[in-house]
Amino acid sequence: MDLKEYLNKQKKLVDKYIDQYLPVGVPKKLFDAMAYSVKAGGKRLRPILVIESVKSINTLMDIKLFIDIVVAVEFIHTYSLIHDDLPAMDDDDLRRGKPTCHKVFGEAIAILAGDGLQSYAFELISQNKSIKSDRLIKIINSLAHGTGIFGMVAGQSADILSEKENSFNDVEFIHKHKTAKFIQSCCYIGGLIADGTEEQLEALKNYGLYIGLAFQIQDDILDEIGDEKKLGKRTHKDREKNKLTYPSIYGLEKSKKLAKEYVEKAINEIKVLNNSKILEKIAKFIIEREV
Ligand code: IPE
Ligand code: IPE
Ligand code: MG
Ligand code: MG
Ligand code: MG
Repeated sequence: MDLKEYLNKQKKLVDKYIDQYLPVGVPKKLFDAMAYSVKAGGKRLRPILVIESVKSINTLMDIKLFIDIVVAVEFIHTYSLIHDDLPAMDDDDLRRGKPTCHKVFGEAIAILAGDGLQSYAFELISQNKSIKSDRLIKIINSLAHGTGIFGMVAGQSADILSEKENSFNDVEFIHKHKTAKFIQSCCYIGGLIADGTEEQLEALKNYGLYIGLAFQIQDDILDEIGDEKKLGKRTHKDREKNKLTYPSIYGLEKSKKLAKEYVEKAINEIKVLNNSKILEKIAKFIIEREV
């Protein structure tokens, strides 16, 4: 099976469980907005990274023991996309091939759908009965750290400030925080779920950070040269909004080269893992993808 087929199979698996974990007892419009954005599609890269990081250490672990964590990660990611698209942020009208959440449900409900997905994700993880509580706390801590004020929220603020304030000119900071730290956390928590050694956890953390950096460079590149139909989101938005991106600073060719270097660094890190083949392929895919 080639990687594309494999990722497709894993995406279907994740999608099946996402359906099962959509919350019950939520006011209808709020539920509809959450379900709309979660089910609109997406690569499911972050949940797949959790699964594959577990497998890189322990191929035999039953996915049912940690599927709530896998699903929660996608809920957090979808929250970040809903908020990223808001008029006050990137002001986008297309996401995952469909009108953005606020276009369909209005801004207030879109904000609340994002809020709801985030807190529900942490609620789900905290209810896991299979992972030992000391490791579960580390998982919660890592995700909160990677997506909150020391991670994604910091990066998103810097990204927005970079549009208007020339004083903010650190694109590495933006990419590391808005994207890489969350992806790093997905790999690390996979290691925690599998009860990896310190060495394995460190390798997954480094791998995650490097592929996360490459991932956002490729996202910036696709904004310049990607196909709107394939991507399911508007292109040429970054330049329009005067965003600080890799292509805007280094140009396309140098950006591609830098992304490739991060992928090589990532692959170098995972040699110590028991099964690194899929993670290696995912790292390469990240800069080859057109979606
Ligand atoms: C988009 O993430 C937001 C970024 C961090 C660049 P993805 O490209 O993973 O979006 P989906 O989940 O596939 O829609
Ligand atoms: C978004 O970066 C990162 C997030 C934390 C959601 P972008 O703003 O470049 O993502 P897209 O291009 O809208 O998916
Ligand atoms: Mg953005
Ligand atoms: Mg955006
Ligand atoms: Mg982008």
